[in-house]
Amino acid sequence: MVVDNAALAQSIEDWFVAEARDLPWRRTRTAWGALVSEFMLQQTQVSTVVDRFEPFMQCFPTPKDMALADIDQVLQLWQGMGYYRRARNLHRAAQYVVDHFDGVVPTSEPQLRELPGVGRYTAGSIASIVGGHRVPIVDGNVTRLLSRLHADDAARDDRQLANRTWLRAEALVDACNNPSRLNEGMMELGAMICRPAKPRCQSCPISEDCSARSKGLQDSIPRPKQTIARTTIHQHSIIIRRRGRLLLEQRGNSGLWAGLWQSPTIDGEEELDSERIIRELDVPVQSLHRHETITRQLTHRIVRIHVYSGCLVPRARVPEQPNRKWVRVSDLSDYALSSAARAALSRGVEAHLKQIGQTSCAQ
Ligand code: ADE
Repeated sequence: MVVDNAALAQSIEDWFVAEARDLPWRRTRTAWGALVSEFMLQQTQVSTVVDRFEPFMQCFPTPKDMALADIDQVLQLWQGMGYYRRARNLHRAAQYVVDHFDGVVPTSEPQLRELPGVGRYTAGSIASIVGGHRVPIVDGNVTRLLSRLHADDAARDDRQLANRTWLRAEALVDACNNPSRLNEGMMELGAMICRPAKPRCQSCPISEDCSARSKGLQDSIPRPKQTIARTTIHQHSIIIRRRGRLLLEQRGNSGLWAGLWQSPTIDGEEELDSERIIRELDVPVQSLHRHETITRQLTHRIVRIHVYSGCLVPRARVPEQPNRKWVRVSDLSDYALSSAARAALSRGVEAHLKQIGQTSCAQ
């Protein structure tokens, strides 16, 4: 099938003008708003970001507001969205904008790419959608759309497919009228019509030009990724209470859930028994009670959180450490916890309260 890029681009632009969803970051187009929304949307569903974007922008209306804020404040507001590295990068990007661009997020692609956490997709998105620049964008939605359009049956994660897709997106944006509408229109068409399963070809503005559809291949393109083997890590999370407060510790600055708070936790490659946990925990605990195990499937790992509550050795001193705090339950919302750590804490506290009615470990 011969592809007329100008006509295709126009059909996508017209469709977008008529059908675009009303999303909060589309109401006022600022480069800062686009940067925040793109960071949020990198790994989180649109329906979640819809509720989180505006409160975030109210708290940090400009890059300067975020650059001056403590990272803990940013992490706290990011809670529940996962992939906390994005929050750290956004904070660093805001500081970079203040230091190098006078507090104004640039809209040119090369300048955007100087920002931490900003790759070709994010830079292209802001440069085209906000700046109107003629640069391509490729994300998962665009890859699927263009693979089907060209009946390219490579696997989704094939590197050569990525190169071909960037060239196809470039050819379209070169031929279009309005790069902002075209690029956002492709994302929207991928999300709403050219969906991963059950594409709605009957409502698609470019179905007549779609090679996959003409060959009946729309359900089998793109081919799924090769499945990756995920490693399992075991976390032993110990709920420790004293006089109505819970002991929290802050994770280190790198790795999984870096910088977030949790109950004292021992990480391991395998499940450990109580004696070993008590030995490794540098809190004087005399016994442990096992509650449930919470499982979280992350992109590259499976995390199994084994929840325990621990009875402190009576009158023993708990060593003070800067990354450790006794926190009132009513103050827990002041701390950034991953949703897994929060779930472990709340299930553990609940089970612990039930269990102290039955034992002598009343703390
Ligand atoms: N508009 C700009 N970027 C977007 C995205 N990633 N998802 C949905 N709409 C968008």
